[in-house]
Amino acid sequence: MVVASSFEEAVSLIKDRLDIVDTISQYVVLKKSGANYWGICPFHDDKHPSMSVSPSKGIYKCFSCGAGGDALNFLVRIQNREYKEVILELAEKFGIELPKKFAPSSETKTQREAMLKACKKAAQFYNFQLKTANDSNKAMTYLKGRNITDEIIDTYTLGWAPNKHDSLYNELKKDFKDEILEKAGLILKSNQGGWIDRFRNRIIIPIQNENGDYIAFGARAVDEGQNPKYLNSSDSLIYNKSKTLFGLYTAKESIKDDDSVIIMEGYFDVITAQSNGVKNAVASCGTALTAEHVKLLSRYTKSRRVYLSFDTDSAGINATKRGSQVIKDTLATLGDIKQFDESHISTALDNKYACEIRVISPPQGKDPDEFIRTMGGEAFNEFVKEAPLLIDFLLNNILSERHDIKTPQEKSELVSKVIEILKDVNNKIIQTEYVKMVSSVLDVNENAILKELKRTENAYDNHISPKVQKFSVTNSSQFEIKAQKNLLSVFLSVGGSQNYQKLNELLPENIIRDETLIIVKNTIDKLIDTVNNVRELTKNLYTEFIEDDNITQILTDIVDMSEAFNGLDAEELEQTVRENIFRLDRCYSEQDTEKLRKHYREVNNDDTEALKLQMQLRDKIKLNTGDK
Ligand code: UTP
Ligand code: MN
Repeated sequence: MVVASSFEEAVSLIKDRLDIVDTISQYVVLKKSGANYWGICPFHDDKHPSMSVSPSKGIYKCFSCGAGGDALNFLVRIQNREYKEVILELAEKFGIELPKKFAPSSETKTQREAMLKACKKAAQFYNFQLKTANDSNKAMTYLKGRNITDEIIDTYTLGWAPNKHDSLYNELKKDFKDEILEKAGLILKSNQGGWIDRFRNRIIIPIQNENGDYIAFGARAVDEGQNPKYLNSSDSLIYNKSKTLFGLYTAKESIKDDDSVIIMEGYFDVITAQSNGVKNAVASCGTALTAEHVKLLSRYTKSRRVYLSFDTDSAGINATKRGSQVIKDTLATLGDIKQFDESHISTALDNKYACEIRVISPPQGKDPDEFIRTMGGEAFNEFVKEAPLLIDFLLNNILSERHDIKTPQEKSELVSKVIEILKDVNNKIIQTEYVKMVSSVLDVNENAILKELKRTENAYDNHISPKVQKFSVTNSSQFEIKAQKNLLSVFLSVGGSQNYQKLNELLPENIIRDETLIIVKNTIDKLIDTVNNVRELTKNLYTEFIEDDNITQILTDIVDMSEAFNGLDAEELEQTVRENIFRLDRCYSEQDTEKLRKHYREVNNDDTEALKLQMQLRDKIKLNTGDK
């Protein structure tokens, strides 16, 4: 047993024991060719072996979809699990003892396993009761009334908790300790000192984690006046509400295939949706959407295409606003989302920095469940296809208040609400188009809106750091990114890391402008004095970005490119750095000229692709607001 003094050390020890070729071979057939191995990439629909594995650099890289990283990243990605979980498992496998606070004691582990078993047994018991108990008729009638078929009942292991105080307890007590059943949230201490079932006289909706284990329950009332409407399991050793999405286990393949997910509010929304061909639907379990939920989902939809389909009442609209804010905030801190409202343009430019939030809000029905039951899954899918971008949905909502306006003050207030939304649109062309549209719909002078917008933006800009302000709108071309990566890869070559300080001094300020690459560079700066060689440097870099697939991928490109500079002496490396700086400088100045040209074209109303797109967009919004 090797003892690690910290979690980081454990990660490092594990990485030393993970052979990249062995690791990947467990999932992909690899063929050796030259110094590297090649195989079919498991992260996209690959026909030819486009993934290379380099034993010397300890990385894999797919030349088709861009996926890449070290062995640990490969495992986390392919198993679609939290990296901490994978670390714990590997630590055990390699006999590495973790510091106490990270290692689950063997007692906890046994408890967890027993709780999972108990929940599974409970789900099966409730399901059986639904079919056999003498008071289950009303539950069956209720479910049939909601178009829940026998097949659906079995797919979701729906059940019935009889109106008796110990039917489950009596069944499970022979196989499980009271303590386990209590911890799993299945039984409660009664006033008389014995145990009673927690769920009674309710329809049971088992909650599964992404691996299909039963971990908790939602239980719906069936009687008039029975409160609360839903009684849910509390958090436990095996259940964390803010990390669990109802329906994910049954939806995950579709979310991957469609590269999109639909978030709904209720259990029955998801059950009805999935059973009627809307397979990529999930819901949070009786709590508001959290950052953890979003992170979980972003592991399944690479393009982060998220549809919100909440109730159509005002509570639902508020939930949409709150939910979309959580999505934006969460994905922004992962460092790879740029402009939420421009996905249609981003895709056109093949920009992977995209996140798309759309809102599904059909005019009929109080929630997706009701809509799908009355109109069918096909009709719902039509709404999915047509779903407006979040920004259009929000604007539409505000603009629909325009009929109640009586005074200039009220109008100005409405415009302020619009500005709150428009100020976050980075792309000025798009922003101006929206301003034009709003100006015509509200009959407010366009320049007045633009001025107000400018004022708000200035106030806003002063609050953020100069660095972010300067670069947040930088959307470098592929070529520029390549040149910047190239420059960084010099630093990750053997000689580059040995001559780090000297080479670093050659760099003019602002030569690295891409946001992600700035992060990578700063991290190299931070780590360089703590490592002995480039291999350690790369290993620790990967550890720093362990939770960020995007940066990991970019880092892999850089590591991969660095090979070209191995074997160069200090002088040759300096020369390479200078050449790269020269190239980048030229690039940046060309870019400035292009900006001017673009601006000119804009003024002249040139019919560029982007503008065309915007016109279409504007027309669409006009249509939406026009028929209200
Ligand atoms: P809703 O009240 O919209 O329920 O709450 P619903 O799903 O439409 O329920 P039905 O269709 O009347 O059966 C949405 C979700 O909020 C949680 C549940 O997860 C529910 O599905 N909720 C609601 C609770 O956890 N407890 C409650 O008392 C009510
Ligand atoms: Mn509802």
